[in-house]
Amino acid sequence: MEWTREQRYRRIEEATIEELTALQEKVNNSRWRQKYHIQPVTGLLNDPNGFSYFNGEYHLFYQWFPLGPVHGLKYWYYTKSSDLVHWQNVGIALQPDDYFDSHGVYSGSAIVHNQTLYFMYTGNTRDENWVRHPYQCLAFMDENGQIKKLQAPVIHEVPKGYTDHFRDPKVWKVHDTFYAVIGAQRENETGCAVLYSSPDLMHWTFEGEIHTRLQHFGFMWECPDYFELDGNGVLIFCPQGVVPAGEQFQYVHQSGYIAGNRLDLKTKIFEHGEFVKLDRGFDFYAPQTTIDHKGRRLLVGWMGLPDIPYPTDQDGWAHCLTLPRELTIQNGKLIQRPVKELEALRQDAVHVKDTLHNEQKRYDGFNGTCYELICEFTNMEAEEVGIEFRSSDEEKTVISYNRHKQKVTLDRTYSGEVPAKKYGTTSTCRVEGNAVKLHLFVDTSSVEIFINDGMEVFTSRIFPSPESTKICFFARNGNVSLDTTIYHLTAMQKNGGADDGPLV
Ligand code: FRU
Repeated sequence: MEWTREQRYRRIEEATIEELTALQEKVNNSRWRQKYHIQPVTGLLNDPNGFSYFNGEYHLFYQWFPLGPVHGLKYWYYTKSSDLVHWQNVGIALQPDDYFDSHGVYSGSAIVHNQTLYFMYTGNTRDENWVRHPYQCLAFMDENGQIKKLQAPVIHEVPKGYTDHFRDPKVWKVHDTFYAVIGAQRENETGCAVLYSSPDLMHWTFEGEIHTRLQHFGFMWECPDYFELDGNGVLIFCPQGVVPAGEQFQYVHQSGYIAGNRLDLKTKIFEHGEFVKLDRGFDFYAPQTTIDHKGRRLLVGWMGLPDIPYPTDQDGWAHCLTLPRELTIQNGKLIQRPVKELEALRQDAVHVKDTLHNEQKRYDGFNGTCYELICEFTNMEAEEVGIEFRSSDEEKTVISYNRHKQKVTLDRTYSGEVPAKKYGTTSTCRVEGNAVKLHLFVDTSSVEIFINDGMEVFTSRIFPSPESTKICFFARNGNVSLDTTIYHLTAMQKNGGADDGPLV
């Protein structure tokens, strides 16, 4: 079905109760609903927003179009958790109902100030000729958890020399000054990030562009996020329209980071290394980080991409968020690990130690659609080792390590229904060594694979049939020792899904 502009910009209260109930029923009947990932009650989820720890709880919002699986009029939907594992759907937090955000409460971030949780976000507006004008806006959560908007934007104008692609403020504080990094497009249609400062979150001064070595790197940088980790400066961003180069940047959109010295807030000079992709899978975009009360730098991403259809569209919903990951840094490289709290989902464990001799093997207890699996391959003589999962006679998803090529590959060619095939169905990255550790989180329609304790991550949606539940380990051309554990995981909520909670 083609969605008209009118249909995309319908507000939720324009839908009848019957329409909403029918949509929700369709979504609830979808065979691809996740068990322990944050997913929309109906409609389309995209970027995580306002990720924060405040008043003893984690708060996480996301971009949401309620009425169908398309990018339309965006709201902020609110979920919260005391443990990063069990999330409670709270309802709509911010609605596009003011002149400064009439066409979408776009992405933004949160910061605690004066015992209050503040949100800075982009209000997207369009004039009668559909010309975009962005405002940067502020909202806050009062002591009863009610979220209110400031009744005027805090940044009204796009800075001189930049276009209306100016959005996604990420705020942090140094001593008594707040800083915001905002995604921007120069008038010559190249992407960059700009810096603002403020004494109080209300009054903002344009400090200038962050000077990087990437002068021609895509046409717009979405969702920038600057933070410091162990004395390193890190700038995460999502450059749109990066030209593919060799094996690099072949997939639709990129999300990655540059790391280096601390950003010089006076000169805005950021000395940094190469742009590194944050994730090696297919479906990962617009991540956001926060720091929690334990001092951990945490990251959550959108497990999806703009501009491509997904198999769940037919069921009235699209996308989910990734599991929360903890970031650390080693020699300028970000390491991502699933947060320890996720172990709370583990039920029974099955453990196997074995040697594979140029063969494929299956083990009792190793199967399912919702599990965590850790597998270490050592004493590697084989040329290639790996795991086929969500498999049956017709389907399989494969993660493999080729010792000769020193490459890990995720292959979803036979994963069932495969989105965006034209961009390729295998994804590869370089991993060196004579051993490899694969740590998988499999949910009904996704997989997140942490390689060698978070040195690389492959995040992907997969859409196999519910009957594809087998797991098979293999070694080609030689032997390998294998040490593996599977934990079947409980659903995030008691009703068996992650679907509880109000639409509005
Ligand atoms: C990234 C993005 C942001 C924008 C939001 C709108 O996916 O395009 O730049 O704020 O999504 O939903």
